[in-house]
Amino acid sequence: MNKKVTIVGAGMTGSTTAHWLAEREIADIVLVDIVEGMPQGKALDMQEAMPVIGKDVTITGSNDYAATAGSDIIVITAGLPRKPGMSRDDLLAANTAIVGKVVEETIKLSPDAIYIILTNPLDVMTYLAWKKSGLPANRVIGQAGVLDSARMRAFVAMELGVSVENIHCYVLGGHGDSMVPLTQHSNVAGVPLHKTMPQERLDAIVERTRKGGGEIVSLLKQGSAFYAPSAGIAQMAEAILKDKQLIVPAAVYMQGEYGLNGIYFGAPAQLGANGVEKIIEYELSEDELAELQKSAKSVAENIAALGL
Ligand code: APR
Repeated sequence: MNKKVTIVGAGMTGSTTAHWLAEREIADIVLVDIVEGMPQGKALDMQEAMPVIGKDVTITGSNDYAATAGSDIIVITAGLPRKPGMSRDDLLAANTAIVGKVVEETIKLSPDAIYIILTNPLDVMTYLAWKKSGLPANRVIGQAGVLDSARMRAFVAMELGVSVENIHCYVLGGHGDSMVPLTQHSNVAGVPLHKTMPQERLDAIVERTRKGGGEIVSLLKQGSAFYAPSAGIAQMAEAILKDKQLIVPAAVYMQGEYGLNGIYFGAPAQLGANGVEKIIEYELSEDELAELQKSAKSVAENIAALGL
């Protein structure tokens, strides 16, 4: 029997996630949304594309959670996206209600699932999903670090004219303007990033990475980024379904790592069949640690505002 991935929220990110996953042929996919007919229509359209790309997976759309029963992975992209001028934190109240309800509905039918959360504000929504689900923390993960690091990798590739495959960047911390792009651990085919370009170009890339989500929001005028975020989810889902033990930055529950406790926060995580198998601790400079602490403070304040 195929593995099963449910995606709740069949909007831009949810449906694009389904698309990336279908191309990987690693699971049957269920798309759920509150908009009537929309998840069914997108699922059928995608199913009709499978003969063309030669992938044997079943893609189902529904407005009813019954279709999600027995999922191996539940992805939550349901929520309101950012509008121009809106910070991710402005979304807190609206998306708290949505994500809380989605977890309540899905956990009953898939008690052994691993959750991947995308809805913003990301670190807070992942914490909320963990609390509401009652699952061990290793089974609830937020997608942010793959995206933030991919943005940085893309900008470095554009700057240097080198294959994206040679570029390794690590962005840790909260998924917001306080995220921490680690220039000392990032490298281009083993050469430390800061040795590949003048400092001011590197500074510009760090800044563009931090504001990467906002750059897309202002270009699109409505809605927020979806190709790169959904590619991040698909990579994480594949790592879990195939037990790859792949190390990627992700929002994970901190239990002493980097001196942080009791919050979801972006750190390098080894992903496998049990979700987060291990959190990797880098040796950081004092400056980097101070930046992480600052980012953690803002995430902790938002988590506290949930009042859970
Ligand atoms: N249950 C199921 N689906 C819901 C619910 C709900 N309670 N509330 C909203 N949705 C659906 C919407 O109908 C919509 O189809 O969630 C979908 C969200 O899709 P988009 O509006 O296209 O947003 P998207 O760009 O995919 O972003 C989703 O990711 O980046 C974050 O902050 C962003 O929270 C947003 C999320």
